[in-house]
Amino acid sequence: MPILKRANRRDAAAYCRPMPLTASVFQSMLGADVAISVAPPAIVTDRLFPEERQYISGAVEKRQAEFGTARLCARQALAQLGVAPCSLVPYPDRSPRWPPGISGTISHTTGCCVVAVANVRHFAGLGLDVETDTALQRSLESAICTDQERAWLDRCGDADGGRLGKLFFCAKEAIYKCQYATTQVLIGFQDVEIEIDLDAGTFSVIRLKCTGVKWDFASRITGRFRRDAGFLIAAATLTAEPETRRGAGRW
Ligand SMILES: CC(C)(COP(=O)(O)OP(=O)(O)OC[C@H]1O[C@@H](n2cnc3c(N)ncnc32)[C@H](O)[C@@H]1OP(=O)(O)O)[C@@H](O)C(=O)NCCC(=O)NCCS
Repeated sequence: MPILKRANRRDAAAYCRPMPLTASVFQSMLGADVAISVAPPAIVTDRLFPEERQYISGAVEKRQAEFGTARLCARQALAQLGVAPCSLVPYPDRSPRWPPGISGTISHTTGCCVVAVANVRHFAGLGLDVETDTALQRSLESAICTDQERAWLDRCGDADGGRLGKLFFCAKEAIYKCQYATTQVLIGFQDVEIEIDLDAGTFSVIRLKCTGVKWDFASRITGRFRRDAGFLIAAATLTAEPETRRGAGRW
């Protein structure tokens, strides 16, 4: 009996504490063709490649922890695809630099760092954004959302206390990361209009900044969102063209 009592106390404590996000949460959103690694940010400087250490040496401790943990997560996720450990210093524009044949995405926030990677035969782009699941300041809504999106928010009312505004922010950050590998263009919040299906937990692109072959392709980005453990997660994917996908195995 004492053992049972102790276990119950432990269970109660675990219930009150927010649970960390696990890879399975992201896997359920991105599917089996994507390799994922998740960890809480920590200082791991001694486990970085010299050029990565050099890249981040001048940053504040929080940024060092996020950057370093992201590199370790990336190597773990890449190992699942059979990719040997390699240095992952970002491009000068801060976008992630992946080994040839790989697309991927990184996000970090307080308590969570996540990396997702896939073979380019499966995905031309991936985009993840993780935010704390809190309301967006009302004053920011007009900067984040287009007129159409704000009309939709108005129709939804205030049932969620402003958290739907944050969902637009999170989804657009994920879309931004996902489209970048194809377009290499910095887009703003007003340059993309999205539609959210609250029941299905999905979002899709209605309009993107420009027209042209690359943009037509990037506008095929679709996404899923999920709330878990006090976090809001948006995952955007751009499936590879059929001719690229041909012959692709799991990885
Ligand atoms: C890049 C950006 C989206 C990062 O978002 P964030 O909330 O600051 O941070 P996150 O932790 O979610 O993501 C950080 C990761 O984004 C990735 N990233 C940076 N620039 C990127 C780009 N151009 N394309 C894809 N990924 C990029 C990096 O891998 C970075 O991780 P790292 O620094 O450890 O390598 C954001 O800072 C930015 O520059 N936004 C400008 C564009 C924008 O927001 N447009 C509106 C949406 S459409």
